[in-house]
This record gives sequence, structure tokens and C-alpha cells, in this order.
Amino acid sequence: MSGEKSGVTAALETVLQEGEVPAHVAVIMDGNGRWARRRGLPRWEGHRAGMTAVRETIEGAVEAGVAHLTLYAFSDENWFRPSMEVEALMTLLQEYVRSQREALVGHGVRVTVFGDRLRLPEEARQAISELEASTEGGTVLEVHLAISYGSRAELAGVARTLAQRCLEGELAPEEIDAELFAAELLTRDWPDPDLLVRTSGEQRISNFLLWQLAYAELFVTDVLWPDFTRGHFFGALVDYRRRERRFGLVKT
Ligand code: IPE
Ligand code: IPE
Ligand code: MG
Repeated sequence: MSGEKSGVTAALETVLQEGEVPAHVAVIMDGNGRWARRRGLPRWEGHRAGMTAVRETIEGAVEAGVAHLTLYAFSDENWFRPSMEVEALMTLLQEYVRSQREALVGHGVRVTVFGDRLRLPEEARQAISELEASTEGGTVLEVHLAISYGSRAELAGVARTLAQRCLEGELAPEEIDAELFAAELLTRDWPDPDLLVRTSGEQRISNFLLWQLAYAELFVTDVLWPDFTRGHFFGALVDYRRRERRFGLVKT
């Protein structure tokens, strides 16, 4: 235990000493179902255990000085899971808000939620609105929760908005470029992620931030989400430091 502790501290020290902490880390929190199955538990127990990993990651991000943390909590496609699992996830979301609100405020975290919240049940919608309102003053870390989010739907929405503006004569099609397009994304107020972490070993994007991840560094770990700790998070940050980002340019 103490050995593990000191390893975590050492990783954090490396991250802090050497600078170059990514400004924005995005995480695909995957593997809750497998975690539960391995223990002979129902899937929702895996989702519940995943809340500890959310807390660990947020606190780790605060300690490391990350400015933006985006967490993929529920995708557009996840709506098609068995209704019992979807209901359990919605209930857990409310439980998360109730149990974590005070701690988040205490850490100076500001939480914003993006995605199609109109599809959420009324109580879940209310819970996230309350969470956003009560953490509004947070200035240490911005946590962005992707809930009922799908990147293709987001991009289709941008196309729709721009088409409408053209029809209204406010915009000419030839004026549309990447910058104008990005200004209509749900994430328009934040920088693009520098680092994408995915747990549980899957090497795919699963309809997450397709536009925004254009030049993100990818870090996949086999650790299942409920087992993910701040030590694992610092490990990803240390690995990020070794990357050489090029953005399509020639190395100088
Ligand atoms: C991630 O864990 C949580 C959500 C997608 C809501 P999964 O539920 O996808 O877990 P696995 O991939 O089946 O192990
Ligand atoms: C991605 O995980 C969505 C979230 C983590 C919320 P999934 O488990 O839904 O993705 P696939 O099905 O493995 O691609
Ligand atoms: Mg999964």
C-alpha cells in the first residue's frame, strides 16, 4: 500500500516538476460492465463502482493542474442498452450529483454538461442543472460531462445551424471554414483535448468528439474504469510528456 502510494506521489511529482501538463484531457470511461461480470455482479454495480474512479480522476486533475477534463459518461448509442441498465445509469447520475456536489464546490471545480439533455428523464435533467448552477463559481478545473452525447449528432447539428444561417442570408456558403464550423460545436468555449484516455483496452473512439480529437494524443490502458485511480491518471500524463506533437509540421 505505502509502496503504491509513493509510486503515485512520484508520478505526480514528475508531472508537476517537468511542466507541460495537457490543458485538456478527455476520457472514455469504459469497462464497467466487464468489471462487474468478473465479480459475478450485475452491470449497474460496475457503473456504481465507476463513480469512485470519477472522483479519483477529478481530484487527480486538480492536483496535476489540468484546466479542462471532459468525461464521456453516456453516449447516444447507450440509449439502446436494456432499459433496466439505462434507468440504473440515470439514477446513479442523480446519486452522483447528490453525493459529490459539496466536494466539487470545495475543490473549485466547475461542472458543465453537454449532449442532448432533452432525452434525459426530468429528475436527471434537474440534477445536472443544479450541479451546473452550484459549481458555477469554480475556477480551478472545468469538468465537462458528455451525457446523451454523440459526435455525429453534434456535427449534423452544426451543419443544420450553418445551413439555416445561409438560408436566412446571414452567411454565404463560401464563408464556411473550419473556424466558423468549430464556433458552432457544443465544445466551442473550450480548447480541443490534448490527450484522450480510454480505459479497458478498446482502441476506438466510439462516436466521441470526432472533430475535436483531430490532433489529440491517444492513451489506451487495459485498466477497467472502476479500477482507475489518480495514479493511473498521472501515469497517462507522464506518458503524454514523452509524445512529440507535430500537428502535420516538419520536426525542427
Ligand atoms: C462504460 O462501461 C460505461 C458506459 C458506457 C455508460 P460499459 O458499460 O461500456 O462497460 P463494458 O464495456 O461493457 O465493460
Ligand atoms: C463509450 O463506451 C461510451 C462511454 C464510455 C460513455 P461504449 O462501451 O458505449 O463503446 P463501445 O460500444 O465499446 O464502442
Ligand atoms: Mg463499453
